[in-house]
Amino acid sequence: MSAPFTIAIDGPAAAGKGTISKAVAAHFGFAHLDTGLLYRAVGAKLLLGMDPVVAARTLTAEDLQGGDLRSPEVAQAASKVAVIGEVRAALLDFQRSFARRAGGAVLDGRDIGTVICPNAEAKLFVTARAEVRADRRFAELNAAGAAVSRAQVLADVKERDARDRERAAAPLIPAQDAVEIDTSDMSIEDAIAAAIAAIEARRS
Ligand code: CDP
Repeated sequence: MSAPFTIAIDGPAAAGKGTISKAVAAHFGFAHLDTGLLYRAVGAKLLLGMDPVVAARTLTAEDLQGGDLRSPEVAQAASKVAVIGEVRAALLDFQRSFARRAGGAVLDGRDIGTVICPNAEAKLFVTARAEVRADRRFAELNAAGAAVSRAQVLADVKERDARDRERAAAPLIPAQDAVEIDTSDMSIEDAIAAAIAAIEARRS
């Protein structure tokens, strides 16, 4: 097993972080944690009437398997629970120990390079214009059979971005030493190649 190596990938909603993170993890043979799923699982429990702080403190691996965690309703609930400092604190240790596991780790989210892993060996900030991100998310949700309009998806993405950027606890902001990749006019293959090249530069 090789020494820990943490890759932090942050950015706004539907910027392509998930696809890029999976491809980067496969390329380097690292483990991958989609930290948005933690907040989505807490958000899903809020929708069921549970106190979000209790939900975050008692989260289990099964809670991350729920079928509707990708729905727009759960995404909105996730961004609402994500402003609560106690929720974020409850999820911190798990993320930090995942990041330092032997063999390397890729974590994607909003605050990985700034708060969770400020000493990550490589940091990326993946972004794209809001309209482009909404089109991609609309296509994904449509393919999954969700009844949503493009206008609704764009409004949802903008609302979550604003809440994520303006919150006091761990706001969405690029780390000073993050490499920014704007994927608006890139194919997914080009975005993955740009991410791998930026990380390779930090490995040597
Ligand atoms: O997939 P998408 O980019 O739309 O969202 P996600 O990564 O699954 O995150 C859902 C929500 O969780 C975000 O809008 C954030 O409010 C919150 N989140 C966070 O606050 N910190 C993270 N590290 C990851 C997600």
